[in-house]
Amino acid sequence: MNILLIGNGAREHAIAWKIADSQRLTKLWIAPGNAGTALFGENLSDLVIEDPDAVVQTASQLAIDLVIIGPEGPLSVGVADRLRNEGFPVFGPNARAAEIETSKAFANELMSKYGIDTANSKTFDSYKEAKTYATDLDGPCVVKADGLAAGKGVTVCDSSAQALRAIDESMQLRSFGAAGDKIVIEERMYGWETSAHAFTDGITVRHMPFSCDHKPVFDNNVGPNTGGMGVYSPPPRLEPEIQGVIETQITETLVKALSTENRLYQGVIYPGIMLTASGPRVVEVNARFGDPETEVLLPRLKTDLLDIAVGVATSTLKDVEIEWSNQATVGVMLTSDGYPGHYEVGHQIYGLGDIDSDIHVFISGANRDSDGRMVTTGGRVLCVTASADTLEDARSLVYENIERITFEGAHFRKDIGSFVVKPE
Ligand code: AMP
Ligand code: GLY
Repeated sequence: MNILLIGNGAREHAIAWKIADSQRLTKLWIAPGNAGTALFGENLSDLVIEDPDAVVQTASQLAIDLVIIGPEGPLSVGVADRLRNEGFPVFGPNARAAEIETSKAFANELMSKYGIDTANSKTFDSYKEAKTYATDLDGPCVVKADGLAAGKGVTVCDSSAQALRAIDESMQLRSFGAAGDKIVIEERMYGWETSAHAFTDGITVRHMPFSCDHKPVFDNNVGPNTGGMGVYSPPPRLEPEIQGVIETQITETLVKALSTENRLYQGVIYPGIMLTASGPRVVEVNARFGDPETEVLLPRLKTDLLDIAVGVATSTLKDVEIEWSNQATVGVMLTSDGYPGHYEVGHQIYGLGDIDSDIHVFISGANRDSDGRMVTTGGRVLCVTASADTLEDARSLVYENIERITFEGAHFRKDIGSFVVKPE
């Protein structure tokens, strides 16, 4: 099969690595790709992935048999819709189904209609009404930009004063552009979080193992939220009974609800879950593989990813049995100093050749410069992933190896997975 993979993160490097193993693969193209994906296929660095016409034209020219869409941006502008209309099998939902991620207001309405437990919330277009509501709340809450903001449009607030600042940032300063002109103010929930990924063709749902991302930039969950600083799988403290509740009452209910609403969903659906004192509740729903979750999930996947992707894209997932290894995996992101705020790029990366052979280094924001040197190009630079029989061993392996990679301003969290031992 000729495959077109869309995206350029460590997630897409991990997907490309996994696809390269497939018996079905003839040739892999990645748009725009990065230095990591280039190891497994041909990068199409000039393709504008949020331009549906351009993607369709390229897919036709290359006689692509299946398109796999990694990030949410192309989903939100209807790249999957256009491809499906032209007859291409696609792994990734149409724009109306992806609204489960691209509009927090829609997600909250849908969950409320179908009895899925999530935070109580109110949506505001009016700056004045939002401010009055936050003032009257007089306590903790969460302020979210309604649209896509690269994981940065959410402020968890302890007080009304903090909420008022977050409303200003979104609706007055317009830090998230049009995505923040409408906001959602939510009840603040308390507990620990897990990511519940599943493959679905809209009818059959195949759950993946659970994983836990760490979003704040500094140790002990201090500092602003990022796209994700590190991750482990599986979370030992997630009891099988609670897993079952999440899978049936949340993920499967979501997929059915979307189908009932005429928004057939084909791809990966990933609710973020808060384990609260009253049980699991939804924090957000994503319409794609998580990043960095993918970097610890795919090393555990034993089944051919293209078998699964074809099952999803052709509504035959019921015929695909999926197997996972029992190993534990830990992934830690190496980031540029200053991320998720301002950071410098162009710093040379050293030590990539000193990594143990069984450790993965999935490249995110890094590329080769004109002299062939690997340099930083983004906030999240790369993810180091290790597998072992226990989480503790996987953790040790990651940290032994990540220390060997250096660049000016390199930062990583030292406590990824340590909450397994000492709950936060
Ligand atoms: P999101 O982008 O919606 O996943 O939000 C990013 C992070 O903000 C989540 O992973 C949570 O840690 C936190 N968060 C979002 N919504 C809530 C909520 N209602 N209560 C507490 N924390 C939240
Ligand atoms: N792990 C966070 C995300 O992919 O949204």
